[in-house]
Amino acid sequence: MANRCIIYQQNGDPTQVLSAITFPKLPSPSPNTVNLKFLLAPLNPADVNTIEGDEPVFVGGNEGLGQVVEVGDGVEGLEKGDWVVMDKPQLGTWSTSRNVSFKDVIRLPSAGLTEAHGATMTVNPTTAYNMLSNFANLHQGDWVIQNGANSAVGQLVVQIAKERGLNTINFVRSRDDMEPLVKHLEGLGATKVLTYDDLEDRSLRGKIKEWTGGKDIRLALNCVGGEPTTAMAKLLGQDSHLVSYGAMSKKPLSLPTSLHIFKNLTSHGFWQTNWTKTHSRAEKEELIVKLAEMMKEKKIKAPEHTIETDEEATTKIRDVFAKVAQGKFGKKVLLKLEDVSA
Ligand SMILES: NC(=O)c1ccc[n+]([C@@H]2O[C@H](COP(=O)([O-])OP(=O)(O)OC[C@H]3O[C@@H](n4cnc5c(N)ncnc54)[C@H](OP(=O)(O)O)[C@@H]3O)[C@@H](O)[C@H]2O)c1
Repeated sequence: MANRCIIYQQNGDPTQVLSAITFPKLPSPSPNTVNLKFLLAPLNPADVNTIEGDEPVFVGGNEGLGQVVEVGDGVEGLEKGDWVVMDKPQLGTWSTSRNVSFKDVIRLPSAGLTEAHGATMTVNPTTAYNMLSNFANLHQGDWVIQNGANSAVGQLVVQIAKERGLNTINFVRSRDDMEPLVKHLEGLGATKVLTYDDLEDRSLRGKIKEWTGGKDIRLALNCVGGEPTTAMAKLLGQDSHLVSYGAMSKKPLSLPTSLHIFKNLTSHGFWQTNWTKTHSRAEKEELIVKLAEMMKEKKIKAPEHTIETDEEATTKIRDVFAKVAQGKFGKKVLLKLEDVSA
């Protein structure tokens, strides 16, 4: 049997530069490394930026779920069969198999988790959890406001907030048939679901005051940038925090100076990759265990997803990326690369 991986040898449009290649069985892992079989690996919006960018990474894939197949000498805390998630960016998870340092992965307590839970653990759930925890000191009954609420991160924000007893006001782009989306988000625990058009409604402020009982909203999470974010920031109360983690509209963020002067608004950016780089292994393990527990208890659902295999190799993977880029899937895409005959 031979292995398979998705590579790019130059940066550019993923639909042009990605190729699926076959490579021979890997040697046994050297000291302090483990051989992993990748069970599933997602395509995330940031992967497109990485491939388009100017830092070549030849085997693609940042996030994924690996299973330990073989353990090299000196490896601590991991054994054959364990599930692991990546603790280092761009390890090349769009691959059937890799040998990696045992220090670059974190053991995932797998009982009760699906492969989709594990494969999508380290980017979106960690981001949602950290944004809800690290900026405003929120208590049960407090309110959080967000845009891009139907994004994978947004849906996790809704679920984690619900688990913590926080209320959420969730903004999405309007669409012809809003009802299924509203029902879906409410089913996850959203307190209110509105559209960016509602932000232009002068009566919105009064409605929100009624819902919150006049309590200040002190945390806003921004996935999209542009005008809807400016309007959303104006709904924040005293000493509040706007945390930007995405720029899906590709429009710049503009904030009225008065919010800083009179409301003491603080505007932050959050990047999970930086959090991972700047936190200890113990802190990262603690977060993974917490999230795994919430998944096991069905407080966090795995994202709706489709699993794509690569039997048609390069054409298939480019086609998958083209659909992702055009938003045609509407679901998280998880890659499952299979061994192929050499
Ligand atoms: N900073 C971090 O650490 C971090 C971590 C994870 C993710 N992210 C970022 O967070 C964002 C969402 O990631 P995800 O995996 O959750 O994405 P996703 O599930 O693919 O969702 C994409 C979201 O973006 C919205 N969107 C797309 N194009 C838009 C546009 N032109 N104007 C307004 N909204 C638009 C979509 O709304 P529609 O349904 O209306 O199209 C949807 O809500 C990405 O930018 C990603 O890179 C950042």
